[in-house]
Amino acid sequence: MIREGGVRVKVPASTANLGPGFDTLGMALSLYSWIEMKPAETTVFHLYGDEMGGLPKDKSNLVYQVAQTVFAEAGVELPELDISMYSEIPLTRGLGSSASAIVGALFAANLLIGSPLDRAKLFDMATAMEKHPDNVGASLFGGIITAVWDGSHADVLRIEPPADLEVLVAIPDFQLSTSKAREALPREVSLQDAVYNVSRTSLLTAALAAGRLDLIPAAMRDRLHQPYRAQLVPGMARILAEATEHGALGAALSGAGPTLLALADRRQRTGQNLEVFLLDVLAGHGIRARTIWLEPCTFGAMELTMDKEGSFMDYIKGEVRT
Ligand code: HSE
Repeated sequence: MIREGGVRVKVPASTANLGPGFDTLGMALSLYSWIEMKPAETTVFHLYGDEMGGLPKDKSNLVYQVAQTVFAEAGVELPELDISMYSEIPLTRGLGSSASAIVGALFAANLLIGSPLDRAKLFDMATAMEKHPDNVGASLFGGIITAVWDGSHADVLRIEPPADLEVLVAIPDFQLSTSKAREALPREVSLQDAVYNVSRTSLLTAALAAGRLDLIPAAMRDRLHQPYRAQLVPGMARILAEATEHGALGAALSGAGPTLLALADRRQRTGQNLEVFLLDVLAGHGIRARTIWLEPCTFGAMELTMDKEGSFMDYIKGEVRT
C-alpha cells in the first residue's frame, strides 16, 4: 500500500563510541534531520539549510539510493520520488549526519510503502550500509544503545539515558572523514589494551543503565582508537585528560571526530567553566570551534504528521534550534 500523500520523518543525530565502546556504544542527541518523501512523476530534490550544501540533487543522492534498497527488499517499484530534506546536524564532524540520513531514508521509504519491514530489519540494512552499528542504532532507536554486528545481523539493546546526564559538544570548524580517522588506527592491539577497553566499556554500559553517573569518570577511557586519532584533532589529548578537572564526568572524541564531547551531571551546574576550557584548549592549537549543550534524545526515527496546509519548510521552521 503506497501512501500517495507522502510521509515526513524526524531523526536524531548521534555520538558513537562514548570513549571505550568503539563501534559498539551510541547515544542519540538533540539535533535533528527531517525528511519528506512522496511518490512523484519525476524525481526531484528540495535540500534546505547550510548542512545540505554540495549534496547531489539527482538519483545518486544517498537518501534516494537508500530508499530504493527498501523498495527492492519489499518487492515494490517506486523509481520516482519527491524528496525534501533539512538537517541541523553538522556534516562530517562526528555527529552521525550520514547515519541520520541513512536511517531517515530507510524509515521514510518503509513508511511510504506501508511499513512491510520492521525496525530490526531496518537496523540490519542501516548497519550494512554504515559498516558499524553505533551511530545508526542510536538514530533508529534513540537513547543509548549497545550493539553487536556479525556482518549480516545486528543485535541491539537500548538503555534509557540517565535523567541528569547532559552533553556538551565542541564542534571544530574543520571536517574529518570517518575513513581518514579509521586509517589512523592500528591493525592489531595488545591484549592489555583490549582488556583495558572491555572492562571500561562494560562498566560504562552498566553505569549508564543503572544511572550511576559517579562511575563515568573511571569508565570513559579508551586505548583502542582515541590515542591514535589524537594527532588528527590538535588539543584533543589535553581535553580528554583534563576535562574532569573542569566539571565533566568524562570526555571523548565524538565518533570518528573531530567533535569533542563531554558528559556532565546537570545537578552540578558545570556550565560555562567547561565550555571555556574546551574552547580555550582548541583555540590554543589554532582551532576555531563552537560549543552546544545537548540532551540525550530519548526517541529514535519517528513519523511526523503530514499537515496538508503547511509546506515542509513551514513545518520545520517551528522545530529547529535557532
Ligand atoms: N565507531 C565509528 C568510528 C563511528 O569510531 O570510526 C564513526 O562514525
